[in-house]
Amino acid sequence: MTRRREQGPSRRRTAILISGRGSNMAALIEAATDPAYPAEVAMVLSSRASAAGLDKARAAGIGTAAVDYKQGIAAAEAATEAHLAAHGIDLVCLAGFMRLLSPDFVQRWHDRMINIHPSLLPSFAGLNTHHRALDAGVKLHGCTVHYVRAQMDSGPIIAQAAVPVLAGDTPDALGARVLAAEHILYPKALALVAADRVRVVNELCVFSDRPPDGDGPAVLVSPPGI
Ligand code: GRF
Repeated sequence: MTRRREQGPSRRRTAILISGRGSNMAALIEAATDPAYPAEVAMVLSSRASAAGLDKARAAGIGTAAVDYKQGIAAAEAATEAHLAAHGIDLVCLAGFMRLLSPDFVQRWHDRMINIHPSLLPSFAGLNTHHRALDAGVKLHGCTVHYVRAQMDSGPIIAQAAVPVLAGDTPDALGARVLAAEHILYPKALALVAADRVRVVNELCVFSDRPPDGDGPAVLVSPPGI
């Protein structure tokens, strides 16, 4: 007699692309340990073979690959596509991936590739966001998860978390507060995308429902201690 194995709901096969320490990657991996989470982390790919995040991914039992982007963007992206295809990847999460992707690559993953950026976009696209937020005197700072478009740090905004800027903040202190919010926000945003609860209409995100627990795409986060 053949017995059919009980199958859970199908989970979207997700790759995480990193370049460094991989703390957001770790938050996504942790969220996906829940069998009810709508995405599974099927692989982690790094643009640097020495990225600390690769060790964390291996320790979590996730398959890893490193692609040297110094070989040139065309060859590197071809290698990346081959890894994604070999793992049957359906969604891509950029998490501290420090390489600009070509418009062709971005187009192939249109509305299937998301990124986290450490500011409330469209403010402070680019680097040194915490320093620039302090220089600008903003009172709220935060992070954004968005669909990736060819222009850096642009694309339909899926979710944002805001944190207060406090008197005496340094870029490091403010950055640590934002990072804690990133680790909460990114798993929530990936869950919305993986469960098909968000779609893009005229380059804006539209949500199919608002969950009863108020767990919506905009989150005001005050991490403990402030
Ligand atoms: C995070 O601040 C993320 O928002 C930005 O790069 C940083 C990556 O940190 N894109 P980690 O590698 O996830 O710890």
